[in-house]
Amino acid sequence: MDFTSEWIRQAEKYVQQELGADASGHDWQHIERVRKWAVKIAERENADVFVCELAALLHDVADVKLNPSKEGGLRKVSGWLEANRVDIAIGQHVMEIISTMSYNGGQNPPMRTLEGKVVQDADRLDALGAIGIARTFAYSGWKGRLIHHPDQAETAIAHFYDKLLRLKDLMNTSYAKELAESRHAFMEAYLEQFYREWDPNVS
Ligand code: ADP
Ligand code: NI
Repeated sequence: MDFTSEWIRQAEKYVQQELGADASGHDWQHIERVRKWAVKIAERENADVFVCELAALLHDVADVKLNPSKEGGLRKVSGWLEANRVDIAIGQHVMEIISTMSYNGGQNPPMRTLEGKVVQDADRLDALGAIGIARTFAYSGWKGRLIHHPDQAETAIAHFYDKLLRLKDLMNTSYAKELAESRHAFMEAYLEQFYREWDPNVS
């Protein structure tokens, strides 16, 4: 019997419970977008669509920013996979993806499997473009940080340079690279407009 659609349904329910009230930009709507893009990219790249969809659904349950520790977060996910009797090999693959896909200052090694590359790309696309900009300011506000300060390192605008503008060149799949281009260009145009409004002496 094929349990895949039942696992997806259960994962949806579980993640909605876990992340439903999140206001840091990792809410259910983020998961839903990442999941849809992961499926779309997986189809284009001939990856295992089910593994990509399940990993996309579960990818932020273990996020360190939302858990006391990464290990504790990962234990929650492995507990869920066990409790729902997901096949061992699929469960291990999903765990590998979600435990290694984080940006981590660009320091993590490349994803090992095609499915990992797909889910990482889908998550990174949601950090770019109009939505990426909105999430960055939401996250920054959630942290109590400033929008912009010329001399401060931990502002929302600083995050564009620390991470967002680097992501385009870190995309794994050719389809996601294509999608990242226009999102990247939109962020660059946004920053130019931002500085023009910030300082009357900038033209
Ligand atoms: P990943 O899942 O790759 O580790 P994060 O969870 O760190 O990515 O980031 C997801 C999104 O949260 C970012 O794209 C950004 O919008 C926002 N975010 C994360 N860190 C910061 C930060 N220091 N300042 C502003 N926004 C941030
Ligand atoms: Ni995410």
